[in-house]
Amino acid sequence: MKNSSFILVLLGVAVLFIAFRWAYASNDKEEPENVVCSSTIEDIMTRTSVRSYSEKQVAKETVDTLLRAAMGAPTAMNKQPWRFVVIDKREILDSISTKFKSMTMASKAPLAIVMCGDMSATIEGEGREYWVQDVSAASENLLLAAHAIGLGAVWCGIYPIADRVRDFSNMLELPEDIVPLACICIGYPDGANQPKDKWHPEYIRYNSWK
Ligand SMILES: Cc1cc2nc3c(=O)[nH]c(=O)nc-3n(C[C@H](O)[C@H](O)[C@H](O)COP(=O)(O)O)c2cc1C
Repeated sequence: MKNSSFILVLLGVAVLFIAFRWAYASNDKEEPENVVCSSTIEDIMTRTSVRSYSEKQVAKETVDTLLRAAMGAPTAMNKQPWRFVVIDKREILDSISTKFKSMTMASKAPLAIVMCGDMSATIEGEGREYWVQDVSAASENLLLAAHAIGLGAVWCGIYPIADRVRDFSNMLELPEDIVPLACICIGYPDGANQPKDKWHPEYIRYNSWK
């Protein structure tokens, strides 16, 4: 091949390379918005309660990610009255499973996080009960983060069932101001879990109930 033809081929390859890079770079620019948006909706729509887990343990960094997600929730007047008790001791998980009929999955879960409210950190007066909404928002954040990471989790209710509040408070030696709201059992799913279809357009009204 003559030198000039070789240079022409080389130039052609270079032009093609730059064109491809440019095309991919422009796609990259649009991607974050679409990807973040669609994967958030996708995670919300595919989350479901998971009550059966494999034996795989949950790493400490993963637990931190779940707690960070929980603490990212909206909270009335930014009071952040949520507190968390992470349970990874087998005997405590087994005891939850035995004591509470609706939490038997705890015996197979490598981890549970008890979502609590600190009554000394709530809004004073009428807004006090907002703590329930704050800790519930944190709980949903945690469930979604768990699902996004590939974990399975289930929210098990404690508050306002008086017996459960009392038993959890005793078991975890909670101070008087700390009220347990939910026990979230967490682990890597043992098998597939199908989300329920909960879309009911008849539950919706526009602008007034009529
Ligand atoms: C306040 C609350 C309390 C719940 N308590 C329990 C429970 O004690 N045990 C349990 O297995 N699931 C419990 N769940 C999970 C629900 O059963 C589950 O969210 C519901 O059936 C809908 O299914 P999904 O989460 O797969 O969409 C509770 C959920 C909420 C929000």
